[in-house]
Amino acid sequence: MSSPAATFSFPTTTVFGPGAIGGLPARLQQFGCKRPLIVTDPGLLETRAYQLLEKALAGSPALRPEVFSGVHPNPVEQDVVLAAKAFAEKGCDAVIAFGGGSALDVGKACRLLIKRPDLALASFNFNDDWCGLAPCVCVPTTAGTGSEVGRSSVVTLDSTKRKAVLFHPQLLARLVILDPELTFDLPPKLTAATGLDALTHCIESFTSPVFHPLCDGVALEGIHLIVESLPRAFRDGKDLDARGKMLVAAAMGAVAFQKDLGATHSLAHPLSSLCGMHHGTANAVCLPAVMDFNAQRKPGLYRRVGVAAGIDVLKAGDTEADRRTIGFVRGLIRELGLGEGLRAFGVTESHLDELVEQAFADPCHQTNPVPVTRDELRALYVASM
Ligand SMILES: [Fe+2]
Repeated sequence: MSSPAATFSFPTTTVFGPGAIGGLPARLQQFGCKRPLIVTDPGLLETRAYQLLEKALAGSPALRPEVFSGVHPNPVEQDVVLAAKAFAEKGCDAVIAFGGGSALDVGKACRLLIKRPDLALASFNFNDDWCGLAPCVCVPTTAGTGSEVGRSSVVTLDSTKRKAVLFHPQLLARLVILDPELTFDLPPKLTAATGLDALTHCIESFTSPVFHPLCDGVALEGIHLIVESLPRAFRDGKDLDARGKMLVAAAMGAVAFQKDLGATHSLAHPLSSLCGMHHGTANAVCLPAVMDFNAQRKPGLYRRVGVAAGIDVLKAGDTEADRRTIGFVRGLIRELGLGEGLRAFGVTESHLDELVEQAFADPCHQTNPVPVTRDELRALYVASM
C-alpha cells in the first residue's frame, strides 16, 4: 500500500424505487430547469417506460420538455452533435438521458458540445475547463452498463471510425433515477445479456489488483444481488423485486469498475466492433475461459466471489474453491440461455487475427489479475469458441 495515494469517490445522488420517475419534475425544478431535453433512441418512444416518463413530466405544467430521439445503438459522433444542436435550438436548460447505455452516453456527452459547439470530439482535452456543464438526469431502462453512474461516454468518432472513451468527472449525472418499472419491457434475452455484463463488471473489478477496498465491497454485494435476482428477472420480467435489485446491482457494478476491469472486457470490445456481438453477450461467452485462465495462475482468486454467490467454498482448498465458483458461473450463464460458444454468434477462425490485435490494444487487460500476452488472448478466444 505504498504511494500513490488512492482516491475514493461515490458522488452520484441516486433515487431508487418503483414509481421513482414521478419525482423527476420536482428535482428538475430544484435545479432551476424548465425545459429539459430528453435524449433517447427511436425504439424507446413506443415503450411503456417512455409513457411513464411522459406521464411524470406532464404532471408539471411548468415544464416544457423537448425530445431528441436519434441515438444509434452504438452511438456515433453525429448523435452527440445533433443532440447538442437540438438543445441549443429549442432553448433547453437540462438533459434527461433516458434509455440503455447508448442513450445515457450521448445524453452525458452532448453537454460537452453544448458548452463548446465548435469542438470536434477527437480534440476533446481532459485538461480544458469543463465546469458548468448543463445538468443531466440519467434514467436507465436496462440493468447492465451502469453508465448512469459513470464519468465517461463511449462514442465512435467521425475522424477515426473507432470508439473513443470521453472521460471527465464533470460528465457525471447530477441525479440518477432507478425505477424498476421502467425495465419491465426488457425482453429475457436482453435482460440476460445486460445482467451478465453487470456480473462481469463486479467479478472483474473485484479481482483486479488495484487497491480499492470500497469498490471491492460494492462488487461483492453486486454479485450477491445479481445471483439472487437475475434468473428471476429473466423468467418473469415483471418481478418488481428482482428488477429493482438488478437495477441497483448494475449501478454498483459500474461504481465498482472505477477500480478497473480485466481481460474479459478486452476480449469483448472487439467482438462488438468487428463481429457485431452485443457487449453483454460477448462478456458472458468469454468470462468462464478468462476465469479458468486467471485461477490457474492465482489459485483461490475466486473464493470470495463464490462466497458472495452463496456457494459452499469457505473450507475448500484454493483449486477446489475456484473450480466450484467457475462451475457455478458457467451454470448461471447456461441457465440464462448464453451457454453457447462464439461460433454460435458467427465468429470464425478467420476473425481471430484482427480480434487478437484489437483485444491486445484494449487497455482493460492491463488490470487483469494476471498479465496476458497476445498469444494468451488468442488462446482465450479459441477456448471460448
Ligand atoms: Fe461492460
